[in-house]
Amino acid sequence: MPSIVTLISGRGSNFEAIVKTAQKEQWPVTFTGVIANHYAAKGLDFARSQGIPAFAIEHREHATRESFDAALIQKIDELGADLVVLAGFMRILTPGFIRHFEGRLMNIHPALLPAFPGLHTHERALEAGVAEHGASVHFVTEGVDEGPIICQASVPVLPGDDPNSLAARVLAAEHQIYPRAVKWFLDGRLRIEGNQVQVKPPESQLIKL
Ligand code: GRF
Repeated sequence: MPSIVTLISGRGSNFEAIVKTAQKEQWPVTFTGVIANHYAAKGLDFARSQGIPAFAIEHREHATRESFDAALIQKIDELGADLVVLAGFMRILTPGFIRHFEGRLMNIHPALLPAFPGLHTHERALEAGVAEHGASVHFVTEGVDEGPIICQASVPVLPGDDPNSLAARVLAAEHQIYPRAVKWFLDGRLRIEGNQVQVKPPESQLIKL
């Protein structure tokens, strides 16, 4: 059975959405572990409540990014991961880590990439006055929030929105596309061609909410 290791930094609601969808749809998959970079990450509690092995590797206890990433690699390999899911994992990963898991490392970003990479996406979308915002699931490559896009969801920006109301609408969209992208991967339906991801057989890679 394929295995998934998830990396989180906080709440872990995307991780929860993936696990709950997998349970509901009875995916043949094992969640071999969740790793947070903080002991206090809330998502670890959900993992434990589901019997999923939960670990913290505190990044502040590592002198360098390289040493933190080496500890992460070791733990993930020990757990066994056909797919590594970054779900609100707020650390920049080293090129060595990314190469190690190339082609089986996914991330979710709360914007319609390539628009608004980086932080504070909701504030920036409001400042830019865009009519649509959203979220993107992508394979991870060495650039931050770059890499072939697997699936996106767009949501409208509504009059009176503030960063919180927009973030809530985007988060609901994230919870729809992340499970979908993971399932496509597990079903062997994704082909990376250059910087593009094809879904075979084709299915819409953009959801409008
Ligand atoms: C999400 O908005 C994700 O896109 C961003 O951080 C947030 C994490 O939320 N990178 P959660 O921990 O999955 O609830």
